[in-house]
Amino acid sequence: MAKIGIGIIGAGGIAGSHAEAYRTFPDLCEVVAFADIVPGKAEASAKQYGAKTGYADWREMVKRDDISLVSVCTPPFEHAENAIGAARAGKHVLSEKPMAGSPAECYEMIAAAKQAGVRLGVVFQYRFETAVRQARALLESGRIGKPALAVLNGLWWRGPAYYQVWWRGTWEKECGGVLLNHHCHLVDVLLHLLGEPVSVVADLEAASHDIEVEDTALLNVRFRNGTLASIVGTVSAAQEATRLEVATEGAGLSFSLGQPLRITAQKGDAGGFPEEDGAAVAALAAEAARLAPPLPHQGHAAVVHDMLVALRDGRAPAVPGEEGRRAVDLAIGAYKAGTTGARERLPLAAGDPFYTRAGIKAAVWKSPRGARRLGAPVPS
Ligand SMILES: NC(=O)c1ccc[n+]([C@@H]2O[C@H](COP(=O)([O-])OP(=O)(O)OC[C@H]3O[C@@H](n4cnc5c(N)ncnc54)[C@H](O)[C@@H]3O)[C@@H](O)[C@H]2O)c1
Repeated sequence: MAKIGIGIIGAGGIAGSHAEAYRTFPDLCEVVAFADIVPGKAEASAKQYGAKTGYADWREMVKRDDISLVSVCTPPFEHAENAIGAARAGKHVLSEKPMAGSPAECYEMIAAAKQAGVRLGVVFQYRFETAVRQARALLESGRIGKPALAVLNGLWWRGPAYYQVWWRGTWEKECGGVLLNHHCHLVDVLLHLLGEPVSVVADLEAASHDIEVEDTALLNVRFRNGTLASIVGTVSAAQEATRLEVATEGAGLSFSLGQPLRITAQKGDAGGFPEEDGAAVAALAAEAARLAPPLPHQGHAAVVHDMLVALRDGRAPAVPGEEGRRAVDLAIGAYKAGTTGARERLPLAAGDPFYTRAGIKAAVWKSPRGARRLGAPVPS
């Protein structure tokens, strides 16, 4: 099969991770061109990563016959326009997270790809981590029963300089804060393990940065399968601690990013108090290792490899647009809940004020709970 030609829209920070990842698989693909609105930036990236050329306008780049896959590496507000334009030009699309800034845009991207007969994948590299794959495999195996509770704590830190970048911290361009843009990775893992969320309650705050969007979020989420989950997220924490816990009838699963899965099981003493069941833990660990052995690649290399092989084999990528959409829907549903103070149903439906980007911005701005800060205290 001929090598897959790659075009990269946006030649900023994450574009380098895409280019490096594609260059890990020279037998499968070749980076052909970059596009960036900043003069000279696309050409400089093309030179750095051995691509043929650079463009100031991505629309020109996607006309090339030697490009069949386009990586979207622009700020969130442009993902939908880039992806839809590339799909209509007949290119497969790999979009950076968050997939887009609204549920409406996600559905439009999915429809455009379907109509053009191209594949649409979303970058969620933590999906490929061994702990995540083993947790999912154990849950799917039926050996540990139904999840009762999940706890996601994502305590991250981003300093003031981070928010000096032109598109960050704004509803217009970042389209959301820690929930939509940072913890969409962790939320995606949670959704991958637990399935469809049906409602959310949220408190959100810009706790330590002078930004429009939230840097801190506290969510209660109810899933269709009955699981309750708490999501605690911030980019205001010096701890830099990430932990996901899933408690099922038969086991406790916990992990941090990049760390092995920790499995616990209890047999219970005569009084019903916990007593670790070492034999069950060993058996589950062996089963997890058998079901999901480590992959040869991690991070963006894993995402890109999956996308290239999916195109070669004519299958959907590991994270298709339909699944990328779910993390956007939960974040925007939480923005609605933070604004109304009520439990809000998911997924958001067409016609909901929070379905479109314009609607989200208008609703947030006029909210009595605070124009700049979702979930700010209601004036008494
Ligand atoms: N998967 C991950 O772990 C990960 C990590 C970092 C960033 N990201 C995501 O990647 C995206 C980009 O983030 P970044 O950190 O690289 O930002 P960045 O600001 O470093 O780069 C964005 C680039 O896009 C260019 N650009 C903007 N509009 C454009 C247009 N219309 N046409 C062509 N180029 C355009 C900018 O000039 C800039 O060079 C964001 O959605 C971000 O959330 C993902």
